[in-house]
Amino acid sequence: MQRTLVLVKPDGVQRGLVGEIVRRLEGRGLKLMALKMMQVNRDLAARHYAEHQGKSFYDGLLDFITSGPVVAMIWEGREAVTVVRSLMGSTDPLKAAPGTIRGDLALDLGMNLIHGSDSPARAETEMALFFSGPEIHQYDRTADRWIRE
Ligand code: RTP
Ligand code: MG
Repeated sequence: MQRTLVLVKPDGVQRGLVGEIVRRLEGRGLKLMALKMMQVNRDLAARHYAEHQGKSFYDGLLDFITSGPVVAMIWEGREAVTVVRSLMGSTDPLKAAPGTIRGDLALDLGMNLIHGSDSPARAETEMALFFSGPEIHQYDRTADRWIRE
């Protein structure tokens, strides 16, 4: 079963939207495997956003993601990477469809509330950046009988 890393970014924590975001992911049937609140330091931010190094928005992006605590999570489910990306909506909230997290709850590109890994390979890398093995929980969820075919 596929897994993906999700962050509620500092704007989401500050705006009290952690529960709303978790609710949407849980409601879809994704399974929560790990969750913690943490401060992202500059080194972790640089590793996480390495693909954007050299771009005009890179320094501001690192400033933003380190500006306050985030809530980091691992979610599991069929096609979890794609499912989370579709629940998030487009990177620019102005282009994000209504019904998506960004389309319903955000307005600006730099304050778009949530991060989700953009490929299964990136998900593996990002999960290892944010979580150690014992922080990821293995458990049976009885509701899976009614979610997974
Ligand atoms: P994220 O990585 O944060 O989940 O967002 P994403 O995949 O939807 O977007 P990505 O292309 O990875 O960009 C990372 C974050 O950088 C900011 N950004 N600014 N000024 C710009 O042109 C620009 N492009 C991207 C956004 O805040 C985006 O979430
Ligand atoms: Mg990205």
